[in-house]
Parts: sequence; structure tokens; C-alpha cells
Amino acid sequence: MTGEQKEYFYDLLNKAECLYTGKVLGDFSIQHFVSDVEPGTVVKEQPLVQMPPAVPPQIIRTAPPASVPQPDNTQDIQQQLASIAQKIAACQRCQLCANRTNTVPGVGVPRPLVMVIGEAPGHDEDVRGEPFVGAAGQLLDKMLASIQLSRHDNCFIANIVKCRPHGNRDPLPEEAAACASFLQAQIHILQPRSILTVGRIAVQNLLNTSTGINRLRGQFYEYNGIPLLPTYHPSALLRNEDLKRPAWEDLKLFRTKLLQLDPNYQQKYLNGGN
Ligand code: URA
Repeated sequence: MTGEQKEYFYDLLNKAECLYTGKVLGDFSIQHFVSDVEPGTVVKEQPLVQMPPAVPPQIIRTAPPASVPQPDNTQDIQQQLASIAQKIAACQRCQLCANRTNTVPGVGVPRPLVMVIGEAPGHDEDVRGEPFVGAAGQLLDKMLASIQLSRHDNCFIANIVKCRPHGNRDPLPEEAAACASFLQAQIHILQPRSILTVGRIAVQNLLNTSTGINRLRGQFYEYNGIPLLPTYHPSALLRNEDLKRPAWEDLKLFRTKLLQLDPNYQQKYLNGGN
């Protein structure tokens, strides 16, 4: 492959990353690529396996298998999350920006074992700028702790929309659509090993379905290759005690999946700060 061809692919991939993350081309360093062979040189055809990679490896962010050690690019991830949070703070794509006190981008660890996705900030979250800090949030923390998960150790928590809908109503489809690229960018950067959605709005938006939560919950789906389990929203559990048992069944099923993804995950749970 010539240096020119490599530059072309590099540029193409940068543009694709811009679409996902909201970056601009100026955010990428300028790279100079050399040709693998001098132009005009007659080369004997090589078997495909010996071809050099067509894509600069630093741009590919796919989750490697569990046994491969992860490079420590925590700082890079945090910078990218901060850049998305800045864009969310400045966002005026929908009417929710008019009444917000704070935007609520999300909280948790980089490269989480679990990304928890709810629907929208409520009053307490709007005041604090952090998701799930009110009564439902306290129950969510207990649910997560019951299977050795926490926002401090191994989870990242975010919502479908990043601003509070007035009176805690459900976010409208156009509000969810306006906010979707922020969540997509967060998922792309964080590369969670699994997703737990809480409540109807989160799963319906991620799976692009109108099926109800009672039918969707309790089984795994895939979101861009990431296993996703829907369960009930903690607010629903606070309103209806009868949902606690099926929610617990969901959590046990989720724990089984987590143990497959990382057999030692419970040992790394410190529950720091809870
Ligand atoms: N409910 C949600 O769905 N998200 C929050 O952040 C808080 C309550």
C-alpha cells in the first residue's frame, strides 16, 4: 500500500470518528505514512496474511478478548468523555435546554464492565449534575451492590437524555433523538463489556422497538455487539413491590453473564465511596 493510500484511509477513519464522537478533524494529529514499496517497483504477490494493516492501529477501538491485557489509556478516555460533557453543557438541540439547572452527562469508571442506562435526569440529578442520586438512584446503587457493581468500581451510569424533562415526564422521541449521538459517542469511547438498561424508555430507544418492558426484560439482546439486559426502572420498584422479585431474577441473570465476561469481577469490587 502506498503512503497516499494510507493517508486516505487515515483521513476516512478520522472523519468516521468525528461523526461518532463530535470531534473535529483538527483534533487528530497529522501523520506521515510511508509506502510499503517504492512506487513502480514490481512486487511479487504476497499472501494476504503478510499484508501490513490497512488501518493505523491506534484508531481502532474494538474490545479485545478478555485474556488480552488492556493498554492503559484511561487518561485518553477521560479526556474524550470530558470533551463530550462540554458539548452536552453547550447543547441547545432540543427544548430541554431551556429549563435545566445542570446537564447530566454521566458518571463512572472508564472501560466499565457495565454501562447502566436510564431515561432522564430528575429533580435531584438536575440540581447535582449527576445521574441517579435521588431516591431511585439510592435503590439503583443497592441493586448494583447486590451483584458487586458500583459507579465507583466497575460501572458507568448515563441516561438517554442529558437534561431533565419538565415535571419528570418521559422524554419525547424527538428529545431522545436529539441527544442520541451523545450516548452513542459515550458508548463508543467507553466500550462497556455489557449494558444494563433500566426502564422502558432506555431499552426502547437503544433497541429501536416499541415493545413494552414486561415483554423485553429478563433476556439478553445485543447493542452493537455488546450484550444488553433490560430490567425494571428502580422508580417502578419503589412504586410496585411486586416487581422486586422479577428484577432480582434479572440481576441474577446479569451476574451470570458478568462472570462469563470476567470470572474475577467480584474480587475487583471495592465498593469505594458507597
Ligand atoms: N431516573 C433516571 O432514569 N435517570 C436518572 O438519572 C434519575 C432518575
